[in-house]
Amino acid sequence: MHYFAYHDGVLHAEDVSLPRIAAEVGTPFYCYSTATLVRHVRVLEEAFAGQDAVICFAVKANSNQAVLATMARAGAGMDVVSEGELRRARAAGVPADKIIFAGVGKSREEMAYALGEGIFSFNVESEPELRALSEVAEGLGVTARVALRVNPDVDAKTHAKISTGKSENKFGIPYLDAPRLYAEARTLPGLDVSGIHMHIGSQITDLAPFRDAFRLMRDLTLELRGAGHAIHHLDIGGGLGVPYRGSNDVPPHPDEYAALVKEALGDLGARIYLEPGRMIAGNAGILVTRVQYVKAGAGKRFTIVDGAMNDLLRPTLYEAYHEVWPVLESRLAGPRVLQDIVGPVCETGDYLAIERELPAFEPFELLAVMTAGAYGAVMSSTYNTRLLVPEVLVDGSSFAVVRPRPSYDDLIGLDRLPPWLES
Ligand code: LLP
Repeated sequence: MHYFAYHDGVLHAEDVSLPRIAAEVGTPFYCYSTATLVRHVRVLEEAFAGQDAVICFAVKANSNQAVLATMARAGAGMDVVSEGELRRARAAGVPADKIIFAGVGKSREEMAYALGEGIFSFNVESEPELRALSEVAEGLGVTARVALRVNPDVDAKTHAKISTGKSENKFGIPYLDAPRLYAEARTLPGLDVSGIHMHIGSQITDLAPFRDAFRLMRDLTLELRGAGHAIHHLDIGGGLGVPYRGSNDVPPHPDEYAALVKEALGDLGARIYLEPGRMIAGNAGILVTRVQYVKAGAGKRFTIVDGAMNDLLRPTLYEAYHEVWPVLESRLAGPRVLQDIVGPVCETGDYLAIERELPAFEPFELLAVMTAGAYGAVMSSTYNTRLLVPEVLVDGSSFAVVRPRPSYDDLIGLDRLPPWLES
């Protein structure tokens, strides 16, 4: 559920009309809804009420400081994958003891920084990383709490590029190696081995892969405890899908997901950590773009808009489907035309939607690309020397630009001429 809806025939973000924001900010821009972000945290909290569970928002999904500060005030912890994300989470006011640091390639510098901040735990993904973390912690005279990320070899039945829990994926340690590596970890002086981590993929719309993974996590917890390891926390990752196609793809409700967690892991007496990204931010954001031209192609129409693949990479990178809504509701009553919604970037893959039956959009009208709040702005670039897309946060009847559009001088000024090309 989200708070983007038509009021008096015009699409609004909560109580703010999108044309009003467009007039002030220009297009394209991302627009996020505070009420939607907070609602998703509450829905998860309610689903997990009665379980000892901590929600750590996956910062990679949307790392705008205003979004993170909203999450922090809603009480969420954070899952970070770099020093940069850790710095963002801390700057947004997230207590260090609610932060988990994941990722296959943490550098020693990043480990030292995170230890200095006093984060809750590291999710370690390999044997050499275990050793490196122990050395860094020992050098600093501290102990690093760790969970090992275990790859359960479960098929998440999602897009191949966002599936992480198969044995051929780079993530985690093989399930069968876990007993040996936990035994080794216990001998390392800088580590306090406390948990198990699993994350099998993203945009998962079926509970079955979760059920399989949680069952394996349960078995492993019992086995490791049997071998004398104190397993205090279970980090079950993120991955819960969102409905990109309205009522046509309905992901499991958080209540069903929470019931599954309780059934599989509830009696183990371990604290559960969740790392949701998309489920919280996905439909809390949209990309608003303006039609530039309409061109008749051979057999279909091209609606050329000012947003492009550099602003929202998901359609071309993952063949992802995002609904496109006209900002004026009256356009929904007109006839539908087969069309591609494309941007100005010089790539055939530059589209926001392809082969869609949509209203016959006209130049200058505003369109909203829906469910773009997760993995949208964070994956944007300046390809084709396009300015980084601005971000706006709405709260009730207020809105604020939370990342302004840079100037061309800002962008080009990042480059430097070498001495031999100066003057
Ligand atoms: N935890 C770990 C260890 C992860 O790798 C991820 C996502 C999450 C949590 C959050 O997953 P979520 O709840 O958002 O599904 N750019 C892609 C998605 C990449 C996901 C990477 N890892 C996309 O746009 O679909």
